[in-house]
Amino acid sequence: MIHALQSPSLCEAYKPYFRIGAAVSSRLTGDPELAEILCRHFSSITADNQMKPESVLSLEGTLAAGDPEHAAVDFTRVDALLSFARDHGIAMRYHTLVWHNQTPVWFFKEHWENDMNAPAAPKEVLLRRLENYIRDVMTHVNTAFPGLVYTWDVVNEAIEPEQEGPDLYRTRSPWFALTGKDFLPAAFRAARKYAAPGQTLCYNDYNAFDPVKRDAIIAMLKTLQAENLVDTMGMQGHYVIDWLNVDLCEEAARAYAALGLKLQVTELDIHCNSDDEAHTAALTEAYRSWFAMMKKLALEGIEIEAVTFWGLTDADSWLPGFRREPSYPLLITADRKAKPAFEAVLAAAE
Ligand code: GLA
Repeated sequence: MIHALQSPSLCEAYKPYFRIGAAVSSRLTGDPELAEILCRHFSSITADNQMKPESVLSLEGTLAAGDPEHAAVDFTRVDALLSFARDHGIAMRYHTLVWHNQTPVWFFKEHWENDMNAPAAPKEVLLRRLENYIRDVMTHVNTAFPGLVYTWDVVNEAIEPEQEGPDLYRTRSPWFALTGKDFLPAAFRAARKYAAPGQTLCYNDYNAFDPVKRDAIIAMLKTLQAENLVDTMGMQGHYVIDWLNVDLCEEAARAYAALGLKLQVTELDIHCNSDDEAHTAALTEAYRSWFAMMKKLALEGIEIEAVTFWGLTDADSWLPGFRREPSYPLLITADRKAKPAFEAVLAAAE
């Protein structure tokens, strides 16, 4: 294996088809060699955490301001990554405006109490907070860094068949519990209002290949499309080597594209719990066939805005923690070498 800096550029190879992205942390952009790898191979970046509501919302500022409908925001972390992207000439996808996770408890409470048991804010107040938040974030980003963000994850993970909610909406979400389905169009309406021309609005979810979940997502997307609120379907793409089914990914991608939406794969990784010869060969083949499928769709004219890996090297993957076992899910090893899977993905672009 050669060092990732010696390998031909991945994003150059895929330029005719789609951007190649990576999710990064601020730690990563502060490591000069990792930053060099990022700039050589990737043409889009996503913040792994720095742009989530909990990284942006400020309890102190909110309490000091004392406005029941307007939470205060702190863009320190957002700006750090946006500055990095601007200085290195890399486009950004903003992840994520609305999510049931990594959003502080107090945002949902009547008097901003940081207490699970405090009374919830009334629905109408919460929806106004939502619009104010989206307006503040989009206005700041588009004013301070014009032209840098090309797409927004407006809502992340609103559908979850396992929770058996109405139309398979995720019920175990404070958003759903307090507003029913209404937070979803409300978020997209606000995002449409404050987005800059050319920016796309994305709905993002995991297991988007699964036929039951896919059909529920499609039904939901149609309700957004009736008001022209959504542009892109984001298929997260967290796969496991033992069950990755490229045909199902293709069927789902075609079904979303048939709605007239653009596509993104936003969080690609393939969990693989060993790097022995057999697993390495399986990972290589999985990535080869998956990228060959995506390239075929792009050549057919399906607009794929980006394929983004969730991490840069195996050393910074979330998977060992999440799966509680070793994981070797990405194209670059922990010691920054281009895996055979990297070479296979490069070759699939030819
Ligand atoms: C989800 C989220 C991401 C990230 C990953 C795992 O898919 O959308 O922001 O948290 O899980 O790290």
